[in-house]
Amino acid sequence: MTLALRVNGQTHPVEVEPYELLLDVLRDRLNLTGPKDGCGEGVCGACTVLLDGRPISSCLLLAAYAEGSEIATVEGLARDGGLHPLQRAFIEHGAFQCGYCTPGMLMMAKALLDRTPRPSEAQVREFMSGNICRCTSYVEIIQAVLRAGDG
Ligand code: FES
Ligand code: FES
Repeated sequence: MTLALRVNGQTHPVEVEPYELLLDVLRDRLNLTGPKDGCGEGVCGACTVLLDGRPISSCLLLAAYAEGSEIATVEGLARDGGLHPLQRAFIEHGAFQCGYCTPGMLMMAKALLDRTPRPSEAQVREFMSGNICRCTSYVEIIQAVLRAGDG
């Protein structure tokens, strides 16, 4: 089947099988390899993208269901040659080591700041609780999200 997927503000015609997952279509067909395949079953957050502004696990959604929605991946965060405040804050705080979780962390944090521009630490902890970091950078990650929220 042919889909027209809106990703990061652009429409991409793409041939997919009906059973293909959004994560696989983004990575393998559109070459958007920011979203990562960590667990493949909706528990790690590494594959997080935004669908009409809501964070979702792209490893759980059939690509066909994403047609007609605005999909946002980490590749679309930087604008006009400048990093997003969250990206700058992650760098300033050293909020990653291997970086595998980082695209999902950034997109989940963006969803939080879009609805709650100045979250409390408790709000950050709760909202980000579904995103796992195997390198245990949680303290720095939370600090970075709070810093980005400070503007
Ligand atoms: S790869 Fe999707 S939640 Fe882990
Ligand atoms: S920085 Fe390695 S998994 Fe988070």
